[in-house]
Amino acid sequence: MNPSHPARLAVLVSGRGSNLQAILDACQCHQLYATVVGVFSNRLHTPALERVAAPLRWAPQPTWRHDRRFFDQALAQAVAAVRPDWIVCAGFMHLLSPAFLDQFPNQVINIHPSLLPLYRGLRTHERAIAAGDHQHGASVHYVVPALDAGPVLSQVRVPIHPDDTPDTLAARVLVREHPLLIATLRFLVADRFHRTPDGVLLDRQPLLTPLQLTPANQWQQSDE
Ligand code: GRF
Repeated sequence: MNPSHPARLAVLVSGRGSNLQAILDACQCHQLYATVVGVFSNRLHTPALERVAAPLRWAPQPTWRHDRRFFDQALAQAVAAVRPDWIVCAGFMHLLSPAFLDQFPNQVINIHPSLLPLYRGLRTHERAIAAGDHQHGASVHYVVPALDAGPVLSQVRVPIHPDDTPDTLAARVLVREHPLLIATLRFLVADRFHRTPDGVLLDRQPLLTPLQLTPANQWQQSDE
């Protein structure tokens, strides 16, 4: 990465794109020294794509989107073409292949709506309520081939209220996802995180537990 230029971000999306919008806004108001150089979807039509100008959008062709290997190759080629420093999965509902990840080593992160390692996969809010948990949240992690299993960089926690439904809880988590993602990206683009075979370094020191974002949007290291 060249620190004299804004970091180049490729964003992978599948749905509404509120996390993408948070990134676009943070870049626009210089809260994040980065620029979105491409937005890539695994779906033909998705509201997230509409958030950027047409030249930045990439969607699969209808004829080959069901061919997984072909899709992964085409996606990797298109992402490589924009020369990203970081690839951000922001509501991207597609498991990236080992071949894709090998091409972008330690460059791919994901935001997931749970306190990983709890509730990998789907329906996290429903599962947290059903388990009787008192808190839920979101995590930003490096992407590895196994679903939602990469080293966790950062988390934010929210309370679960007794009358919560999956939708009310999802809404409470989502508004905290946006500052979590931006605060984490600020560290990434400043090259403060490094992934090693043993885990993650923050400022060259082992990150023993994920950074925790407080309600005031400050970092605090968890002692749990
Ligand atoms: C977010 O909850 C994100 O954590 C999850 O999918 C949702 C995407 O929301 N991976 P949006 O498309 O960014 O609004």
